[in-house]
Parts: sequence; C-alpha cells; structure tokens
Amino acid sequence: MNRDDIAGMRRSYTLAGFSERDAHASPFVQFRLWFEEAKSANILEPNAMTLATTNANGTPEARIVLLKEMDERGFVFYTNYESTKAQSIAANPRVSLLFFWGELERQVRITGKVEKVSREESDAYFQMRPRESRIGAWASKQSSVVESRETLEERFAQLTEEFEGKDIPLPPFWGGYRVIPETLEFWQGRIGRLHDRVRYQRSDTGWSIARLSP
Ligand SMILES: Cc1cc2nc3c(=O)[nH]c(=O)nc-3n(C[C@H](O)[C@H](O)[C@H](O)COP(=O)(O)O)c2cc1C
Repeated sequence: MNRDDIAGMRRSYTLAGFSERDAHASPFVQFRLWFEEAKSANILEPNAMTLATTNANGTPEARIVLLKEMDERGFVFYTNYESTKAQSIAANPRVSLLFFWGELERQVRITGKVEKVSREESDAYFQMRPRESRIGAWASKQSSVVESRETLEERFAQLTEEFEGKDIPLPPFWGGYRVIPETLEFWQGRIGRLHDRVRYQRSDTGWSIARLSP
C-alpha cells in the first residue's frame, strides 16, 4: 500500500448537522434517536460497538462487542466473565464505548464505569439465544489458547450430545456487563472539517450539554 492509497482518501461530510440546541436533554433519548436512524440506514450491525478497556499494566485493549440493551441505566453487552476483557474490567472498571455509523457520518463516544448485570437479566437474555449459541458459550474458554479448531469443534459436539433433549443453563462464567455512562459525545461530520460535537456530562443535578471544537 503506497502513501497515496491512504493519504489521498478524502471525504466531505455533508449529510446533516447537529446542534447543542437540538440535542435532547436526555442523552439516552438522543442515543435512541440516532440508533433508530442507524438501524434504518442499512448499516451492517449498527449495534456493533468498540469496547476499550485497560488491563492491569495500563495497556489499552479494544474489541467489538454487540449492544444488547440500552435504557436510563446504561449500555449492556454480554460476554465471558473469564475473558481477557473481563479480567481487564476487574482491574479497572472504567471503559469506553465507540459507535461508528459511517453511512450517517456519525460517531458516538461513551465513557463510564462497568457493572455486572443481575443473574436474572443474564439468564433471561441467555435463554433467548439460539441453542447453538448457548452451547457455544459453554464450549469456549474465551481468550484462552486453544490447541486447534478441531479441539473446539470436538468440545462443541460433546456438549451438544450432553445437552441433547435438555435445557441449557446459563454458564456461571457468562453474563452481561452494563456500562453506566459518565460522558457521551455525539459527533456529526460537517463540511470543511467544522464537525459538530455535542458532549453530555453527568452532574449532580442531571446532564450538562456542551459543544466541543472539532
Ligand atoms: C461484529 C462482532 C461482534 C462481536 N460481539 C461480541 C459480543 O457481543 N461479546 C463478546 O464477548 N465478543 C464479541 N465479539 C468478539 C470480540 O471482538 C472479541 O474477539 C472477544 O470478545 C474476545 O475479546 P477479549 O479477548 O478481549 O476478551 C464480536 C466481534 C465482532 C467482530
């Protein structure tokens, strides 16, 4: 890849604007509005979000997870409680989430603290998942080294047999995390790189809203 392949890529953002005056007083309502638009925009997995954590050494790590619930309490994703991300969250519960909806020239950045969701909530979500996904959760020691693809498939086949005709319970090592936001920033690309950035910050009395320089 030569320099011009990347450096020459330029885009003018012209689709829309976003003003602090139009921002809803609640960031959750505002998020819901943008999320509904992302869902209608034919985006591949609009609920895919980058989750950034830092591990015990302070090394940042980012990966995609899927948003599964969102309400006034926060943003929920599901994962393995023994994975690398879970260990990092245990070391530092402060995380960041990032949505990029390129088709809408938008990103949403969130910072906050993570809590585990209740076992009842995790169980309710787990039981909604397809049978193969539930078996998959049991079969995978997420983030640990696995000898081969065959080892994984053998484990899956063995568990499929064991669970034949039975309910598949929520694994004790699997469940949800809720990111309770402290800040949310809504970014809308604009012409001439004069992008709109509207930031919500949690305060004692509610949410303060400010425009940031692009
Ligand atoms: C589109 C997409 C969606 C994903 N959704 C999830 C998810 O909801 N939960 C999850 O644990 N991993 C999900 N993954 C896999 C993670 O990116 C990651 O590989 C895995 O969670 C292990 O991360 P860790 O080793 O840092 O813990 C997804 C990956 C992609 C590309």
